[in-house]
Amino acid sequence: MPTPHNSANPGDFANVVLMPGDPLRAKLIADTYLHDVKLVTSVRNIYGYTGYTKNGKKISVMASGMGMPSIGIYSYELYSRYDVDVIIRVGTCGAYQENINLFDIIVGSVASTDSNWIHQYGLNGHYSAGADFDLVEAAVNSARKKNVPVHVGNVLSSDIFYNADKEGWKKWADMNVLAVEMEAFSLYCNAAKLKKKALCLLTVSDSFLIREELTPEQRQNGLLRMIEIGIEAGEKFAKESE
Ligand code: HPA
Repeated sequence: MPTPHNSANPGDFANVVLMPGDPLRAKLIADTYLHDVKLVTSVRNIYGYTGYTKNGKKISVMASGMGMPSIGIYSYELYSRYDVDVIIRVGTCGAYQENINLFDIIVGSVASTDSNWIHQYGLNGHYSAGADFDLVEAAVNSARKKNVPVHVGNVLSSDIFYNADKEGWKKWADMNVLAVEMEAFSLYCNAAKLKKKALCLLTVSDSFLIREELTPEQRQNGLLRMIEIGIEAGEKFAKESE
């Protein structure tokens, strides 16, 4: 049954879904890396596609939109209404550490947050939202095989891109948080609550320490490298194609 946010029918999604933030990036991934592609949803222009990798694995790709509320909705419905087992976010981040360069890959094994997302669960302590270890391992192995610099650790999922507090990031950096993005925490919580698997893979597109802007072309190439790692990791969990 379609949902208010997703017009796909049961069975339209593969059990593994790659999630970029941008709908056009979802299209780019489908066009570049999948064949026999079907557009399965386009509600609010949040495109979702299902197709086959060059190794014959059935995989879907769907945009998440920006921020925890947005990925929170789409990932919850994919897991709970479409029988999706694995969601791999493929996004960008701003680096908080000096040893992290533009284009490096970050595997968010843990996510911290400045959001209120966790309050819904009524826990009487501080929850650590984490990625699935098997997915972390698969992504790290794939990155190492490709000789791509990869950092594994804590990422901050923030509600705020344009933060009025210009110095606040330094406290997260001091706690060895590697980078900031805006989605991993709610994705990891949904996966935990629904007993599913999730991973957040990031390309460093900005740095709080290195003042260098990427061109759109550089951004695109960096992203493709990460997407290949995401697909390779995802293929390991894809069900055999019908
Ligand atoms: N903040 C939050 N999300 C991001 C950033 C940032 O600086 N860069 C890329 N994604």
